[in-house]
Amino acid sequence: MALRILTIETSCDETAAAVVTDQLEVLASVVASQDQLHERFHGVVPEIAARAHVERILPVIDEALRRANIKLNDLDGIAVANTPGLAGSLLVGVTAAKALCVATGKPLLAVNHLHAHIYACQIALHRNIFPCIGFIVSGGHTHLYHCASATAFHYLGGTIDDAAGEAFDKIAAMLGLPYPGGPSVSKAATAGNARKHAFPRPFLRDRNRLAFSFSGLKTAVRYAIAGTGKVDFQSLQLTAQQIADVAASFQAAVVDCLVGKAMLAIDQTRMSRLCVGGGVAANTVFRERLAETCQQNGIELHIAPLQLCTDNAIMGGLAIEHLKAGRLETLDLDVLPGLVRGS
Ligand code: KG4
Ligand code: ZN
Repeated sequence: MALRILTIETSCDETAAAVVTDQLEVLASVVASQDQLHERFHGVVPEIAARAHVERILPVIDEALRRANIKLNDLDGIAVANTPGLAGSLLVGVTAAKALCVATGKPLLAVNHLHAHIYACQIALHRNIFPCIGFIVSGGHTHLYHCASATAFHYLGGTIDDAAGEAFDKIAAMLGLPYPGGPSVSKAATAGNARKHAFPRPFLRDRNRLAFSFSGLKTAVRYAIAGTGKVDFQSLQLTAQQIADVAASFQAAVVDCLVGKAMLAIDQTRMSRLCVGGGVAANTVFRERLAETCQQNGIELHIAPLQLCTDNAIMGGLAIEHLKAGRLETLDLDVLPGLVRGS
């Protein structure tokens, strides 16, 4: 009989649970999104996120177990993302997982949310993707790793300010587009001219630095749509074409930086396999450009399928690796909200 684990994910604003086997089969997956709660703030409000997790966590777990047709007592382990993320949000998942482990005596497993975003590629492919360069492009992180194995990640470089997804969300707010900004900016961009605005591409030509910076790009967009004076973005009267052109030019700048640095990481490490995950990896232009560039350079590319790019609990199947290696946690498992460099 295959090993079966329950995985819990509450690192940001998705309350999610899944049941995954050691053959990486997904028996059930439930994701309760909080987008509607955060929409009017154009970003995730940590306290609202934590409270919403408290309300949703038990129904989400129950539903995942029901769909997988499995009882708590038949599980082989309970896994939870405990780092990185919002402290209050992580605490809800970690507390739920611990409580279930106390009640059932099942092993407790911990998952690094960023490693899980890369492991989503392995779950989708059903075969080993390691060693590889792992590229996480999400709302909170834009990070490149050398991944020797599913559990041995070495940090190579990342953003020095905003994450790519965060930049999409902030630009959407300026343009009056709905939250989350990634999907709405990329939708608007389809009707735009990506060459209309020459937005900056920080560090792109610097072959020595594996770094990203998206906050200057945000300022450049602000100047392009509202000049340098004081501005109330809600009262800006932009035409649909102006919005589309800014969205397309912004997206082109972000994609140039992401693709350029992913290739630099490949060059610097002489690796030949690139695996990409995180919400921004759902972006069509990014996926196409990366696929084209990797094909031209003979790089094996795996991007998480769309439904595994944004936060979900399926990717927590990474915990199967810990279970097999006997890396079990004790009940004093803590949340680590900040990123632990090199891990
Ligand atoms: O991985 P994720 O669900 O959460 C974090 O771990 O941060 O990523 C969410 C981010 C948001 O910033 C959202 O705007 C962005 O992913 N995103 C996109 C797209 N879909 C989601 N960004 C660009 N294009 C998209 N299609
Ligand atoms: Zn994420």
